[in-house]
Amino acid sequence: MTENINEWENRYQLNQTGWDRGEVSLNLLYWIEKGLLKPCRILVPGCGNGHEVLALAERGFDVVAIDIAPTPIQNMQTALHAKQLNAELIQADFLTWKPDKPFDAIYEQTSLCALPPEKRESYGKCLTSWLKPKGLLFAQFMQTRQENGPPFHCEVSAMRELFSADNWLWSEQHETTVTHSEGRYEKLFLLRKG
Ligand SMILES: C[S@@+](CC[C@H](N)C(=O)[O-])C[C@H]1O[C@@H](n2cnc3c(N)ncnc32)[C@H](O)[C@@H]1O
Repeated sequence: MTENINEWENRYQLNQTGWDRGEVSLNLLYWIEKGLLKPCRILVPGCGNGHEVLALAERGFDVVAIDIAPTPIQNMQTALHAKQLNAELIQADFLTWKPDKPFDAIYEQTSLCALPPEKRESYGKCLTSWLKPKGLLFAQFMQTRQENGPPFHCEVSAMRELFSADNWLWSEQHETTVTHSEGRYEKLFLLRKG
């Protein structure tokens, strides 16, 4: 646990945060503009500096955001305060954290791909347990075509095993124009918990 905090906290301290665009992801705006993501109680796990947390809070969502590293949590607190917005910010390991009540939706952005593949099953169980029945998972599966990470490649067939049809109803793939460094991109799906 401490090792994991230090690993991520060091990246923030050293400004080695290549995933951070400095602004809200167009993928989040896509879900909102399509009317698929509407104000509700939503969790952003592994929120980082939380540009998406701010965008959700601005739009009237009841947002809970969690990250293991203290620095992005502090950054987000400052940004929320400056804009006179509210969100519940939690500094904890999401693999051991339990919410006091379940969520209507989860916005998952580059946290699954940040985890070593051997931790995916635990994280998948967390995502399932955090949502209400019929709750929505806004999923973005990172495509790197490489073995190493982070970010780790999230092959859709492996994701279909992780979020199996026994527990989840999958949408068709949604198109995105968002790309990441080195030609990486995400495959977007909206999953509904059964
Ligand atoms: C690749 S970054 C993505 C940050 C943010 N979602 C974004 O897109 O800008 C992954 C984030 O997950 C956090 N993280 C990694 N493992 C975690 C864990 N076990 N519990 C909570 N947060 C974790 C890291 O501190 C980091 O902020």
